[in-house]
Amino acid sequence: MTAGAPVSLRSARWFGGHDVPGFVHRSAMRASGFSRRSFDGRPVVGICNSWSEVVNCNMHFRGLADSVRRGVLAAGGLPLEFPTISLGEQLMKPTTMLFRNLMAMDVEESIRAYPFDAVVLIGGCDKTTPAQLMGAASADVPAIVLTGGTAAPAVFDGRQLGVGTDLWEYVDQVRAGTMSLADYDRLEAAAGPSVGHCPEMGTASTMAAIVEGLGMTLPGAAAIPATDSRRLQMAELVGSRAVEMAHEQLRPSQVLTAEAFDNAITLMLAVGGSSNAVVHLLAIARRAGVELSLDRFHELSARTPLVVDVRPAGQHLVEQVFHAGGIPAVLKALEPLLHTDAVTVTGRTVGEDLPSHVPDSDVISTLDAPFQGPQGLAVVRGNLAPDGAVVKCSAATPALLSHRGPAVVFEDMADLMARYDDPDLDVSADSVLVLRTVGPRGAPGMPEWGQLPIPTKLLRAGVTDMVRISDARMSGTAFGTCVLHVSPESAAGGPLGLVRDGDVIVLDALAGRLEMEVDDDELERRRRTTTPRRARPARGYAAMYVDHVLQAHVGCDFDFLVGRSDDPASEPAGVFDGWVGGW
Ligand code: FES
Repeated sequence: MTAGAPVSLRSARWFGGHDVPGFVHRSAMRASGFSRRSFDGRPVVGICNSWSEVVNCNMHFRGLADSVRRGVLAAGGLPLEFPTISLGEQLMKPTTMLFRNLMAMDVEESIRAYPFDAVVLIGGCDKTTPAQLMGAASADVPAIVLTGGTAAPAVFDGRQLGVGTDLWEYVDQVRAGTMSLADYDRLEAAAGPSVGHCPEMGTASTMAAIVEGLGMTLPGAAAIPATDSRRLQMAELVGSRAVEMAHEQLRPSQVLTAEAFDNAITLMLAVGGSSNAVVHLLAIARRAGVELSLDRFHELSARTPLVVDVRPAGQHLVEQVFHAGGIPAVLKALEPLLHTDAVTVTGRTVGEDLPSHVPDSDVISTLDAPFQGPQGLAVVRGNLAPDGAVVKCSAATPALLSHRGPAVVFEDMADLMARYDDPDLDVSADSVLVLRTVGPRGAPGMPEWGQLPIPTKLLRAGVTDMVRISDARMSGTAFGTCVLHVSPESAAGGPLGLVRDGDVIVLDALAGRLEMEVDDDELERRRRTTTPRRARPARGYAAMYVDHVLQAHVGCDFDFLVGRSDDPASEPAGVFDGWVGGW
């Protein structure tokens, strides 16, 4: 080897030495066809690709990775693409949330185990983006994200659809008998016209926006549609920037600060983003060593109005947000609420990268003329959720945000499925539907079951929304007055497990209150006679998950994964590192 990699580069540990380990590492790469020039000290950029044929939203990532590779080469780096587990919302059972932490471990350990000086993280479908951020935050090697962009909008019978938001509507129409099964089949064929993630501000688009709000991607990257050539152009720029970040040693720990999380939460609220992002942001923050609490979401929500008219809270799709200026324009609209001195992966501050103005459109407004007022999201607490729960007010029926009604309790999902259709179910429009044993440990994996179906007899009577409470999550595209993420969950001994049919429940979302009108003595009596219901899987990953998953109010990470490993000395020695001497 003519020149060792600069010692400041991590890859020098693999390729820089004139010794046995250096020989073994270089010859292994040369066996793959890399010439000696590849090891002349240029930064090695890992391209962490969540492409998978079973994740339709991420099916175009090979093309994106090729563009990233072009950018890395143009900037003088060595691109090395690697796979990880990928998580597809539509096919993966029982729920992708069960595997988010597994993917985060895969990403972190792949970054730590291989000779990367920087990584480009290519994610898209809901959990892939937070998993990559969690892993990268813990590894703390320079990292930049490239999300995959939204799918082309579907059109059905002349109506432009959002995949999730409209699907729920049509499901209810089929149940109510107002849509035929033949039409439902036609909808199935039309619902997904291209690769890319869901086209409304569901969880995937929310997380993509959050990546930009956190400063973890280049300005303007989040909202470019998946099939627009500008996404490939952006991929190339991201690849080049990764090489520069390796030289600058600009690490996630310098970007993922408390200020960056405030910015991301403000952005999430301003676009009416998915409640799932609350759980993911809490987890990412704790990986980054940032003390982010659930209450911070309520505080920021109280001052942040909805300034983007995008589904599900508004009318447009993310593609229209892109054409109206994208996330940079939204951030410009939010400028007075942002920490503009936060540093991003560009190496500049948020303020330095803001556009000069918000372009005129009917999609992105200003703080002075928002589409909805503040408090699109509320955090509620009380004797039913001592550690908090979340209500997405922007997706709820305003009149139900303050409500008092008797509980109708379902023990678990099987109980709900068995009874919600029952014409004899003792339920009225004022009832509060309670579903338990669907949290992180209980389900396990905290699936998106929090939008409980309206009991069929009420649906047929014209009831479209009710107060629903669970320890589950809800799809980012769903509607309804749903109290989600109740913490602690029933399976962890939370008071949700103590509710009985007929108990009066009081919700005052804007005041942050969720109570059951049952006195403390009675609750204590019930607690003594109630065993939390949860079945621990006998073996494997699911057993580890149940043993180690934390509650929703701290992000559902594993207890042993919180924090980061930012001390290079803590990186493990390799099998050949025991060899001494050089030549
Ligand atoms: Fe993949 Fe919606 S199903 S983003």
